[in-house]
Amino acid sequence: MNATSSNPSNPEQNKNSRAPDSSTDASRTNSPAQNGDVQNSPGQQMWGGRFSEATDSFVAAFTASVGFDQRFARHDIEGSIAHATMLKECNILSSDDVATIIDGLKQVLSEIEAGEFNWSIALEDVHMNVESRLTDLIGPVGKKLHTGRSRNDQVATDIRLWLREETDNIIALLVRLQSGLLDLAEQHTDTIMPGFTHLQTAQPVSFGHHVMAWFEMLFRDTERLVDARRRINQLPLGSAALAGTTFPIDRTITAELLGFEGICQNSLDAVSDRDFAIEFTAAASILMMHLSRMSEEIILWMSAQFNFVQIPDRFCTGSSIMPQKKNPDVPELVRGKAARVFGQLMTLLSLMKSQPLAYNKDNQEDKEPLFDCVDTLTGSLLAFADMLPNITPNKENMRAATMKGYATATDLADYLVRNGVAFRDAHEVVGHAVALGIREGVDLSDLSLAQLQQFSDAIGDDVFDYLTLEGSLAARDHLGGTAPNQVKQAVSLGRTRLEVFA
Ligand code: ARG
Repeated sequence: MNATSSNPSNPEQNKNSRAPDSSTDASRTNSPAQNGDVQNSPGQQMWGGRFSEATDSFVAAFTASVGFDQRFARHDIEGSIAHATMLKECNILSSDDVATIIDGLKQVLSEIEAGEFNWSIALEDVHMNVESRLTDLIGPVGKKLHTGRSRNDQVATDIRLWLREETDNIIALLVRLQSGLLDLAEQHTDTIMPGFTHLQTAQPVSFGHHVMAWFEMLFRDTERLVDARRRINQLPLGSAALAGTTFPIDRTITAELLGFEGICQNSLDAVSDRDFAIEFTAAASILMMHLSRMSEEIILWMSAQFNFVQIPDRFCTGSSIMPQKKNPDVPELVRGKAARVFGQLMTLLSLMKSQPLAYNKDNQEDKEPLFDCVDTLTGSLLAFADMLPNITPNKENMRAATMKGYATATDLADYLVRNGVAFRDAHEVVGHAVALGIREGVDLSDLSLAQLQQFSDAIGDDVFDYLTLEGSLAARDHLGGTAPNQVKQAVSLGRTRLEVFA
């Protein structure tokens, strides 16, 4: 693609620009030079004199979307080929005409893919750029392609085809990330770390269990995207401008050719609906919120104060002034980028909230937020798919931190309950034991039997089996618990569950 050719500030290019007029799509001339008859534009009549041409160029550049919607070129052409094929099947266009049109469209695509296509702002958007070039290449027969179609149903189709593909890429990245997490969790079912509530040491957990919590978050995200994909994958084409078309089209043919699993049922809704984009962005926002939470943990855990994990150097940068620094740039940036995706969700919701049926030019503003959302999410997932499974826990530090926080206090209380003490009383007893531990600067398991027994005669010498970290983990041995054998089972079940998305 020629980057300068779609630059709104390029006066050379804009001198042939014209005020966009959707009603003249089909009748427009096929060369950019003929297209931009500024003399006849309303701008000329209204403003007159030397201002009019400048204003018209500005309006053309201001209203054009080709600078960004050329990203749809491949999908636009794919949609046009299916549309033309349908017109042939329904005897609306002749086989010869459609064969010529399809050959021409393929040639346009190869020019675009080779970077030889001259994008023109005067032609407003990807749809008219492609169609104009088609007619340059194959002659007047190219002008028949737009029969029974409008840019309104065309753009809605392009967005859906494009977003379907991006959603599939994102789902594939999510699956890669999750299977990496399963491997990591499997290696660390017995690695002990403090589990936190209120960011205070709460109870010992397996690091593998923590990793499997991340897996669950991402699994729901994947389900949400798979579900959103069903509503993305519906065909708007055939709705034409808003009311349908007078030609005897068969939308099931187009849907089948394009791999859509359904057809938008109402033409007014089909050209104006952007729910699917909002839904995608909402699912993306929840996913980015998850990546941000994981980032936050990694950032905390990499600090000298925690010193729980390392991530490979390739995800970090140094400081230009402090030689000792290894900054967790990638997780920090992903945490920051979550804000952007939330913003794009708000942009799309706000964009749609006041629009009457059916298509309004406002809708052109749907693309950049959606592109930014997809790009931000894809980039974040690419980084995470490599980074997250390559976390190395500092097992000794994690263990030492768990020992420090009286993480087995609940285990001692549960032990007392099993020996006949009511839970509230047990809670009180253990509180006293913890206070003694704090005074002495030792863990519960370092207190002597005599020291413990001064708080309750329900304590026997078997108590130490329950005060070890391993004992604490192993005791939570039920579905969803942190016992290492439960985590092992969660991992193997996770592998089976993930197969649904593969
Ligand atoms: N560039 C336009 C968009 O992105 C295409 C549809 C234009 N339709 C119209 N009636 N002006 O929404």
